[in-house]
Amino acid sequence: MDNIYYPFEAEVTDIKKETPTIKTFHFKLAKPVTFKAGQFMQLTVPGIGEAPFTPSSRPGEVQEMEITILKTGRVTDVLHNEVKVGDRLGLRGPFGKGYPIDKFIGKEILIIGGGVGLAPLRSLIYALFDRVDDLKKISICYGTKTTKDQCFKDEYDKWAAMPKTSLNLTIDVLCPDWEGTVGVVTCLLEKDRLDVDVRNSYTVSCGPQIMLKFVTIKLMEVGFKPEQIYLSMNRRMSCGVGKCGRCNIGPYYLCKDGPDLCYADIKDYPNVFD
Ligand SMILES: Cc1cc2nc3c(=O)[nH]c(=O)nc-3n(C[C@H](O)[C@H](O)[C@H](O)COP(=O)(O)OP(=O)(O)OC[C@H]3O[C@@H](n4cnc5c(N)ncnc54)[C@H](O)[C@@H]3O)c2cc1C
Ligand code: FES
Repeated sequence: MDNIYYPFEAEVTDIKKETPTIKTFHFKLAKPVTFKAGQFMQLTVPGIGEAPFTPSSRPGEVQEMEITILKTGRVTDVLHNEVKVGDRLGLRGPFGKGYPIDKFIGKEILIIGGGVGLAPLRSLIYALFDRVDDLKKISICYGTKTTKDQCFKDEYDKWAAMPKTSLNLTIDVLCPDWEGTVGVVTCLLEKDRLDVDVRNSYTVSCGPQIMLKFVTIKLMEVGFKPEQIYLSMNRRMSCGVGKCGRCNIGPYYLCKDGPDLCYADIKDYPNVFD
């Protein structure tokens, strides 16, 4: 059996700049990896360290993987500033449970992303597109500070053209090149704008903690029940396998039971949005 602590080799085959602070790294994997949308990997930069990231690519592409990374600190700075095509990094995983896609069958799915939070959701979006015949509807809402911060821009037209799919974008502050909605992502969830059958839907959100908090409040306000709300809790982790105890909300270990958890399961614990 593979040692869960031992990374396998992943060669960087492409690096795409998405925004001034976000890049998508394309890897060729030394061994096939099957992951479910929402499961995460631990990425090692040799000599620097390891950090968790959820693949942004289509589950099912077992020899390759894309990971979309915000530059925020020690490991991610090196990834952005020093790692180049041809470099060999390490990956271990997948870890966690991933999104409960089978539960979504026959339902409308409302996807809500903020900033780099669209990265894990892109993998879910691909997985849902692969099963679009089994779904009622896919509504994607995405918010960023400005148009410069929008990830995966060149895919928006393709996503919006998919059957049963809508894409709604908003930016926090007005930009000269923007004629769309202005306001934080919750403005797309106002009752008069939301074209979703609330009783027959699930929602999945990924973004900064503060966004998750206010999205959850708004979702409840427009009629969603905690059982219909899934949150991607991408917090600090260490071992990734439920051993170190660094990632819990109540009895749930985000690395093992998440990182995508149903709000109904965690809502009564004090550190949900801390
Ligand atoms: C399951 C999971 C999936 C993730 N998926 C992605 C992804 O797809 N793309 C992506 O860009 N990031 C993702 N993250 C966040 C990513 O792991 C952190 O940004 C990364 O670990 C930072 O490492 P660093 O060494 O560069 O930063 P550090 O030097 O360790 O920290 C720099 C700053 O970033 C903050 N920070 C560190 N980790 C996190 C975190 N988990 N959440 C919020 N702030 C953090 C620190 O508090 C500090 O302010 C994910 C995290 C988890 C747990
Ligand atoms: S990261 Fe170690 S228990 Fe979750």
